[in-house]
Amino acid sequence: MTPADLPAVLAIQQSCYPPSMNETEATIRDRLACAPGFAWIALLNENPAAYLMTYPSKTGKVTPLGGAFDIPQAPDCLYVHDLAVSPTAGGNGLGAALVRHALGSSRWPAAALVCVQDARQFWLQQGFADLAPLDTEQAAHLATYPGTARYMLRRPG
Ligand SMILES: CC(C)(COP(=O)(O)OP(=O)(O)OC[C@H]1O[C@@H](n2cnc3c(N)ncnc32)[C@H](O)[C@@H]1OP(=O)(O)O)[C@@H](O)C(=O)NCCC(=O)NCCS
Repeated sequence: MTPADLPAVLAIQQSCYPPSMNETEATIRDRLACAPGFAWIALLNENPAAYLMTYPSKTGKVTPLGGAFDIPQAPDCLYVHDLAVSPTAGGNGLGAALVRHALGSSRWPAAALVCVQDARQFWLQQGFADLAPLDTEQAAHLATYPGTARYMLRRPG
C-alpha cells in the first residue's frame, strides 16, 4: 500500500464497516507513514478489492479505534490492525491470502488483532485464538470498538 491507494482503501473501508467504525484518511495516512512496508492491497481483476494494515507491536497491547500506530522499542508480534475485503470480492480467498502474506513476511513469530463484526470464525481458521483477560488500560482500548470485540493471538508453532 502507498499513499496513492488511500482513496481505494477508504472506499473499501466504507463498504465493510458501519460509519462508527470508519477511521479517517488522516489517521490511515499517518499509520502508513509510521509503518511503511507493513500494509498491502489485493487486486481482483486489476482493481483494488482488499487491504491489510499491520505494524510491529507487543503482545497484549490493543490499538484503540482511530488510534495512532505506536511502535515499541522491542516488538514481539505483528499487530494486524485492519483487514477488509470489499463485499463484492468476498469469498475469493483474498482475506486469507493477505494474512498469509503478512504472516509469511513477518520477522515475529506471534501475531495479534482485535476481532470485530462476524469475523471470529475467519480468524480461528487463520490460527488465531481468543486471549483474555487484558489489563485495565488495554481492556479500555478494546472497548472503543462498537459491538463485540475480541483480542486474539496467534502463537508460534
Ligand atoms: C472477514 C473477511 C476479511 C474475510 O475475507 P474473505 O476474502 O471473504 O475470506 P476468504 O475468502 O479468504 O475466506 C477464507 C476462509 O474463511 C471463511 N470465512 C470468511 N469469512 C468468514 C466469516 N465471516 N465467517 C466464517 N467464515 C468465514 C471462508 O469460508 C473461507 O473458508 P474455507 O477456506 O474453508 O473455504 C471479510 O469478510 C471482510 O473484510 N469483512 C468485513 C470487514 C471485517 O469485518 N474485517 C475483519 C475485522 S476483524
